[in-house]
Amino acid sequence: MSLSELWVILLFFGCFFNVVKLLENGLARSPPMGWMSWGYFMCSVDCDENPNKCLDEKLIKSVADTFFTDGYQEAGFEYIIIDDCWAEKTRDINGRLVPDRKRFPNGMKYLADYIHARGLKFGMYTNIADVTCMHYPGSKGHFEIDAKTFAEWDVDYIKVDGCFVGEDYLNTAYIKFGRSLNSTGRPMVYSCSWPYYIEYIHNKTPNYTNIVPYCNMWRNYHDVVKSWGSVKAIIRHYQSRYDQLNGYHGPGHWNDPDMLIFGTNSLTASQSRVHLAVYVMLSAPLLLSCDMRNMKDYEKQLLLNMDLVALAQDPLGLMAKPYQFQNSVTLWVKQHLPRKGDMYNSVSFALVNLNTKDVAVSFTPGDYGLNSTDAYTVMDTFTGKFTMNITLKDKINVIVPPEDVIMYSVFPL
Ligand code: GLA
Repeated sequence: MSLSELWVILLFFGCFFNVVKLLENGLARSPPMGWMSWGYFMCSVDCDENPNKCLDEKLIKSVADTFFTDGYQEAGFEYIIIDDCWAEKTRDINGRLVPDRKRFPNGMKYLADYIHARGLKFGMYTNIADVTCMHYPGSKGHFEIDAKTFAEWDVDYIKVDGCFVGEDYLNTAYIKFGRSLNSTGRPMVYSCSWPYYIEYIHNKTPNYTNIVPYCNMWRNYHDVVKSWGSVKAIIRHYQSRYDQLNGYHGPGHWNDPDMLIFGTNSLTASQSRVHLAVYVMLSAPLLLSCDMRNMKDYEKQLLLNMDLVALAQDPLGLMAKPYQFQNSVTLWVKQHLPRKGDMYNSVSFALVNLNTKDVAVSFTPGDYGLNSTDAYTVMDTFTGKFTMNITLKDKINVIVPPEDVIMYSVFPL
């Protein structure tokens, strides 16, 4: 055998073993949408004291019911995810995790069935350490059995947190746990917090090339809390990190800026527009976290706006590119699937004003990757209404109100 033949054989086996080590679960081809308990319910386990803010079976069923009856499921909101604080403090005699007997009396398979019967998917949470961030049992030393347990409960999505462990452990354990999940044969979206802990707990730059092949999504930045300040910090973070992150973002693998805080009475109508618009432009996962009964009408209208959902779920899954503009307005530009033929891009623009004053803006859409020399039609993305036709040379002049966003989607004529 010649040396070059030997190389070909080595390369073949090298690739083969590499491929089977990777995630390869075919999931999250578009960014997951749904609901997750943490942002609003956090560790609300004292249900006798506070029955209206209680992380239990009734809550999870009620979210499934609302999604099913109020149009969220049809719009694409799919995953219902129980975050931390769902388990008993000790495993059973077989070493298995046990759902809290009082709050989840029928167990998790029952909830999975309930959720699946409504055309929705079921997500759960664990941590890669001995305990979870809130000190419930974690999965360290139990990867195989926990993956198997989640699979037996018909879980479709697993968020794996990264509190309380060292950097080296993070870099190996997430890969190992992913393998355990794969070996169950049940496809589960694998949501990692790996880069967040590398960067903000261990003060190192995450090696995304190493992370992306193993996780469907990953947190990059701090937890969202219920305030406009927190939303602004998240927006500014992703704006400043576009160059670092955009190459790792796409079908099957997403940067995750954390939950939306809709339905928590934290944002004004215009701040809510900004919050959702930026997440949509980023092709970020859209996970609500609230008591669904508190969702305001304007919030619901935004969430069920199918022009926005279509952008958020665009099959290309590109992160919008931010351009810092006049008077600190940011123009986010997102390429997405063409509406007509496939020669000419369709593009959406979001002018985001995080300031407390109006800002007058003037920009030429033709400068941002439009490739048809014919005209474009401009739609106001929020209203779905025709706004104007433009050529590549035309400017758009507009005033962006305080803490608000103006969004246009342009399609070649
Ligand atoms: C961490 C995560 C949160 C949530 C909590 C639960 O802070 O970043 O999203 O899962 O742990 O304890």
